[in-house]
Amino acid sequence: MAELTNIEIEKQREYIQKMRLVNEVRKTAPKAFVETYGCAQNENDSERICGMLFDMGYEFCDDVKDADLVIYNTCAVRENAELRVFGNLGALKHLKAKKSSLIIGVCGCMVQQGHIAEQIKKKYKHVDMVFGTHALVRLPQLLWEAMENGRAFDIHSSDGEIFEGITTKREKLPLAKIPIMYGCNNFCTYCIVPYVRGRERSRTMESVLKEVREVAELGYKEVMLLGQNVNSYGKDLDCGTSFAKLLTEVCKVDGIERVRFMTSHPKDISDELIEVMAENDKICKQLHLPVQCGSDRILKKMNRSYTREKYLDIVKKVREKMPDIVLTTDIIVGFPGETNEDFEETMSILREVEYDMIFSFIYSKRKGTPAAEMEDCLSPEEKHKNFERMVEFQNVISKKKNDAYLGKCEKVLVEGPSKNNPEFLSGRTDGGKIVNFQGKDTLVGEIVTVKITEVKTWSLIGEIID
Ligand code: SAH
Ligand code: SF4
Ligand code: F3S
Repeated sequence: MAELTNIEIEKQREYIQKMRLVNEVRKTAPKAFVETYGCAQNENDSERICGMLFDMGYEFCDDVKDADLVIYNTCAVRENAELRVFGNLGALKHLKAKKSSLIIGVCGCMVQQGHIAEQIKKKYKHVDMVFGTHALVRLPQLLWEAMENGRAFDIHSSDGEIFEGITTKREKLPLAKIPIMYGCNNFCTYCIVPYVRGRERSRTMESVLKEVREVAELGYKEVMLLGQNVNSYGKDLDCGTSFAKLLTEVCKVDGIERVRFMTSHPKDISDELIEVMAENDKICKQLHLPVQCGSDRILKKMNRSYTREKYLDIVKKVREKMPDIVLTTDIIVGFPGETNEDFEETMSILREVEYDMIFSFIYSKRKGTPAAEMEDCLSPEEKHKNFERMVEFQNVISKKKNDAYLGKCEKVLVEGPSKNNPEFLSGRTDGGKIVNFQGKDTLVGEIVTVKITEVKTWSLIGEIID
């Protein structure tokens, strides 16, 4: 496999060079508009798409009207993400009619599904390029082919490969996202991810550490290690490594002051990981532990491989070792067959755990997953009613959790101007809570102490202390 990887990368460099020569003779550099949907993994893929485009001589624009190349990096996890992409693609038809040289590309999880790729091929004739998650590395070649032949499709490439050495155009300092593994083996019955991202495969520890050292040298102080289930990192490498061991090594890299990770599957969380987290000051005291549902009957139908009791035991253990941990979760409301009694169990787990924040979704049927064939019992109206009630209930808990920060001093890594009020700076606590406060731009990238003076449901407000 290593050999194949090298051949692919060599071919990629060859096409980057060819595209670069084409772009260099233009009067002005061509502009690319890249829009990303979905999770942090997709955001990281887009950073690599932008890295390849940059190497090919593209500049970037924020308005699709200025673009010579549009790429939508899509998500398939829920239907509404897909509908937005179809809506945006439809709107591009007029733009393409006015500017025939415009190249339109769609990539990512959504088009890794054969039926969607077919739909785009047949009904969206103005789309020039479609490539799935496994074909990311072939973007330069596909772009070349789309320009030469009119259209280029690549969605069938096999999974199982990891391509090292693709240029990454990262987000601004101070946070760098670093994938440690790709794919998922869990097959939760509602979820499309294993079908569109392939089987679990870990990067080697050396590759991950090399990238961490690179970002540290560039001045990044915080890294976010990414995987659909980071707790099973290394199991496929057969060399006795584990996620806890990787975390320990990442923390040793000079210049890295904070390490976060996403996401942890409760079934695989080890005592070793909890120990390492508790003992190491660089590992942020934040854990995203998706529970999905509070009812054992539904957890079983979801194929989550843990019970409510086992999940609560983990929370207890984590809080014993790290009393200040910030806990967040994902919840699905209205899984097929979920009754109002099952839903009440989800409400009771929220009451019992008191998460700092939840990410909640109404179940969305995904073609090809086992849950798509299961019988439903609640009406859409009932599901929405339950969903709204849950969100309101959690808002009260989130505010209560934030109230505990009032008057406390928190170490905040400054990320940049606040999105809602540019006069304020915004950053995050070790636990990942957003803090807004007044201060000079020169503080961006620094860790400062902020005293919390006001508390909102989703964020904290404070004053900087020397
Ligand atoms: N690998 C991560 C999550 C990936 S998807 C994990 O296991 O935690 C992010 C979240 O989307 C999931 O946790 C789940 O809550 C939600 N999700 C996935 N499929 C969904 C579906 N079909 N309908 C609604 N929500 C879904
Ligand atoms: Fe989807 Fe489950 Fe894998 Fe998460 S662990 S990506 S929810 S199948
Ligand atoms: Fe969506 Fe793909 Fe991520 S389906 S949630 S972008 S792995």
